[in-house]
Parts: sequence; structure tokens; C-alpha cells
Amino acid sequence: MREAIIIDTDPGQDDAVALLLAFASRDRLDLRAITTVAGNVPVGQTTANALRIRDLTGAEGASVPVYAGAGGPLLFPLETAEFVCGPDGLAGADLPAPASEATPGHAVEAIIAICRASPDHGVTLCPLGPLTNLALAIRLAPDILPKVKRIVLMGGALGLGNMTPAAEFNIHVDPHAAAIVFDCGRPIVMVGLGVTLQAIASHEQVARIGGLGTAAGRAIHGMLTRPRPGGLGTSGHPMHDPCVIGFLLWPELFSGRDCHVEAETGTGPLRGRTTIDWHGRLRREPNAYVVSSVEAAALFNRMIERLTTLP
Ligand code: BDR
Ligand code: CA
Repeated sequence: MREAIIIDTDPGQDDAVALLLAFASRDRLDLRAITTVAGNVPVGQTTANALRIRDLTGAEGASVPVYAGAGGPLLFPLETAEFVCGPDGLAGADLPAPASEATPGHAVEAIIAICRASPDHGVTLCPLGPLTNLALAIRLAPDILPKVKRIVLMGGALGLGNMTPAAEFNIHVDPHAAAIVFDCGRPIVMVGLGVTLQAIASHEQVARIGGLGTAAGRAIHGMLTRPRPGGLGTSGHPMHDPCVIGFLLWPELFSGRDCHVEAETGTGPLRGRTTIDWHGRLRREPNAYVVSSVEAAALFNRMIERLTTLP
């Protein structure tokens, strides 16, 4: 049976690759909706980018609704990542303007409605950006929790952060939302920097994708080969968000451990840190499966194979 999923996202080049991988995997994944959130860039731009990426997937992709969501974190002012993604969020990707607008209705309402209409444990939530929409949905409608099979999220870090020494970007931006999600009681898979920094797309792999001869392949190649504004070097592009979809499709390529995870919500230097009790010192009930390694070469081969199926 196909796994019903909602992808909550802030595209972002790596979000874009994750979306395309999900569109290329409709035989395994029943993509019910894409919901957008402010993160890498403001929500108007993440929504436009989600629509532009959907447009690459042809008529079949057009049936997946895109709903615009939260314009900023629960409490903190929005911090964005143009230094990684460029002002348009997709590193200046040469993609046309969206062919259509987002579906009317707020992303949070859409998440609630889709969950309510599903059987118990019927929907997997896949957040690829700050967790604002999910936290709002959980707070507004806690009755949806039994409908959630699991939450497979990109966020957090076993070691150092990438936004601050302590924090990974998605959790740093909205740590209060992250605290609500980690505390929600549903199974969580945390795909953090500990694993995603093992999945660096090499020049050779990006060239293979560009050589597929498809619009999606050309778009990915374009996004991943433009110089990143932050002077982040040219040694490859981490495929943070695609690891979430990769985990859904090929869990056997990943390994990790059940742990207790807490998101730090203070305003000091630890803001957004995920404190992971890897050794069970606190003797607290684990609230997440923390993924720590991936067979990256196999992941990229399987991803590229999937991407060949897109127009
Ligand atoms: C995460 O932050 C974003 O910039 C990426 O899209 C990814 O979701 C990595 O820290
Ligand atoms: Ca993202």
C-alpha cells in the first residue's frame, strides 16, 4: 500500500530535489498535499517555488494541491537563508513563473482537514522546513494526532549546527514549534545534519542528473551548480531534505537510534539546539528515532534512477 504523505516545505534547492523525488515515487508515496512555510525565504517565495517545482512534473503533478502556510515562526522574528539559496530561494534557477496559484485555504487548515479525513495512523507528515505549520496544526486540532502515522522531519543536529554553532537551521528558526512537535507523542524520525551531511551530491552525481535529458534533471542541475551566495565552496551540495524522502522509500539504507530529543527554546547561544540523549543518560522515554548514517552512494544511485521517470 502507498504511504499517504504531506510534505511541508520551504523551497530551497534541497527541498526542490526532495519534492521532485516524491513526485517521481508516486507508486510508493501518495502525496496528498504540499504545504509551504517561511524558512529559506519568505512564504510568498517558498509557495511560488513549490508551484514552480510542481509545474516541472506535468499533468499528474498538477493534481497535488499546494497550500501556503505560516509567514513566520511562533514567537521569534523570521530569519531566512538567502546566503545559501539566493534571493529567489532556488539559487537563481531558470524556471518560469508558476502556471497557477496556490489552492485557497491555509496550509494549517489543509493539514488538519487531510488528517481528519484519514484513518487512524493514516498520514505521514514530512516537514522539510521550520516546524511552524505542524505545531500550529497540533495545537489547534490535537484530535489529528491519532491520524498521524509518523513524522519524518529534516531538522536538528547530532553534532554542530549549520546556522549557529549549536543549531541546525530549521530548528533554529522556530525552536518553539520544534519543542511542540518533539513533545507531540507520535513517532518521530529525526533526519538531522548528523546524517544529511553524509549525503553530499558530488559534481559527478549532479552532472549525471543534468544528463538525464529531462526538464526536472536540467532544473536540479541548474540549482545545484550555480555558485552559492554564501561562499560555501564548490565541494558538493548537501541533500538534507531528499534524505527524508529517501528514508521513506529505502529505510534499509539508513541507521540510527531511539533517543530522547529536546529542542532548546531560549534566546541564548543554545537557541535551537537539539539536545539528543544518545546514551540514554537521562533515562527518559525516547521521543524520536535519530538517524545517524546513510549509505550515500546507494541513496544517490536510487534517487537518480527515480528521477529518470519525471518529464
Ligand atoms: C535545512 O535548512 C534549509 O536551508 C534546508 O532546506 C534544509 O531543510 C538544512 O539545515
Ligand atoms: Ca528545507
